[in-house]
Amino acid sequence: MAALRVVVLSAGGRALLAPKTIPVPKANMSFATLPRNKKVALTTLGVVTAGGVGLALMLHQSVKASDLELHPPQYPWSHAGPLSSLDHASIRRGYQVYKQVCSACHSMDYLAFRNLVGVSHTEAEVKAIAEEVEVVDGPDESGEMFTRPGKLSDYFPKPYPNPEAARAANNGALPPDLSYIVNARHGGEDYVFSLLTGYCDPPAGVTVREGLYYNPYFPGQAIGMAPPIYNEVLEYDDGTPATMSQVAKDVCTFLRWAAEPEHDQRKRMGLKMLMGSAILIPLIYYMKRHRWSVLKSRKIAYRPPK
Ligand code: HEC
Repeated sequence: MAALRVVVLSAGGRALLAPKTIPVPKANMSFATLPRNKKVALTTLGVVTAGGVGLALMLHQSVKASDLELHPPQYPWSHAGPLSSLDHASIRRGYQVYKQVCSACHSMDYLAFRNLVGVSHTEAEVKAIAEEVEVVDGPDESGEMFTRPGKLSDYFPKPYPNPEAARAANNGALPPDLSYIVNARHGGEDYVFSLLTGYCDPPAGVTVREGLYYNPYFPGQAIGMAPPIYNEVLEYDDGTPATMSQVAKDVCTFLRWAAEPEHDQRKRMGLKMLMGSAILIPLIYYMKRHRWSVLKSRKIAYRPPK
């Protein structure tokens, strides 16, 4: 803008003073007006900087690609969508897998039998499951500990009394508690699925120490857990064919539920919130426009003192 026009208006919009033009020095900052040599210099600088940044990024990438872990692929979980719930039949099968396979070595300290009620089993079923477990309780009147059948309020039994016993039974490796494992590992259930199904022979030239097993998904590739599942490792109560991938998928769904029992509730709340905001946000926007309309449509004029 080469000149600034000052017009003073009265309240009604009439000009009080004759329009007057005040000259303003012309700003000379655009690229087009630069001399040719400066244009060339600036362009070269830009290209060199962009190239340098690109090269640095590529070097950084190649450094990242050199880490020795195989990252799990993303699997299309039925509960992955923003509004999809967990597959509860799968949770039920997954519990069966945990109970019959994983619970031999892994604890789930933060799950009680009552947590299964209404999720994967009926109350009567869970009571029956809990009663199969012998729980140490006490002390009684004589100060002795005693065992009794499990109740709904009991937590899942532990395979080992303490971590030292767990290590002693597993070649020194500690089987981690599985309650929150899918939240505790990068890749969540994708990682656990890949880990369970990913055991293979080590590549040529790689030897794994006695008592360890080669698994490309495990950081370091040598894991202390023997392959826990294979085709027909168990027989499902509901008759689903127990292929290796089916077993892994079901136990992962169960572990996702264990780590995030509020999963379905959270998504249902999210849907309600979206529907609520679909009505509320346009209303609030309309109200804001209405409230501000007085200020926004006001014209400010300068009246010089007489
Ligand atoms: C024979 C005992 C045993 C059984 C059965 C077993 N695990 Fe493990 N698991 C281990 C041990 C030991 C480790 C620790 C491995 C290590 O740190 O090298 C482990 C580690 C893990 C890890 C953690 C890997 C990590 O990234 O740190 C997961 C997840 C896991 N097991 C899942 C399962 C599931 C699911 C099942 C049931 C299908 C199962 N395990 C059955 C012994 C077992």
